[in-house]
Amino acid sequence: MKGVVFYASKYGSTAQCTKWIAETTGLPVFDIKGYISDLSNFDFFVLDNPIIYYKLLNRKWLRKHWSILENKPIILFTVSGAPAGEKLNDWIANSDLPNELISKMKHFALRGRQIPKELTLYDRIMLKIGGLKNPDPIARKEELYGFDYMDNLVLHLFCAL
Ligand SMILES: Cc1cc2nc3c(=O)[nH]c(=O)nc-3n(C[C@H](O)[C@H](O)[C@H](O)COP(=O)(O)O)c2cc1C
Repeated sequence: MKGVVFYASKYGSTAQCTKWIAETTGLPVFDIKGYISDLSNFDFFVLDNPIIYYKLLNRKWLRKHWSILENKPIILFTVSGAPAGEKLNDWIANSDLPNELISKMKHFALRGRQIPKELTLYDRIMLKIGGLKNPDPIARKEELYGFDYMDNLVLHLFCAL
């Protein structure tokens, strides 16, 4: 069986997570932005993606390659601020993807990192606005001041693998 890891990352934490997946599994790794060859060469897929603004970052890529992916086993790792649960599942469901695709992926939720001073001005402002409007005090604090769950991410990742 020939497997592969495809990832997307905006600020690097998912890329770091993907590196750990690759080191543990020995699978080849590609950034979805740089890969242009035929996906049908692979038998199964590991996808590693952050949640950005309440959606999967790789949703366009998933839609584009759906005709190939629909016949293959897929493991989906998400990296987000929110923990596993209803909110995260809703964001995945609202990423404009076919229901069959969402239900066939085996999903593992991981929590990443958000360092305000590393963000673009636009993202910093949007997250501040989101944080000020967020009724959940923990999520509000994380949106406003950032968070770093990368140590926990390693543990959860190795449990998942
Ligand atoms: C602009 C922006 C939007 C985000 N939106 C969400 C979100 O809607 N829900 C969530 O749980 N986490 C959100 N996060 C947190 C990211 O999922 C988390 O920081 C993740 O580790 C980012 O991965 P990356 O470093 O690979 O880009 C957001 C982070 C940023 C910077």
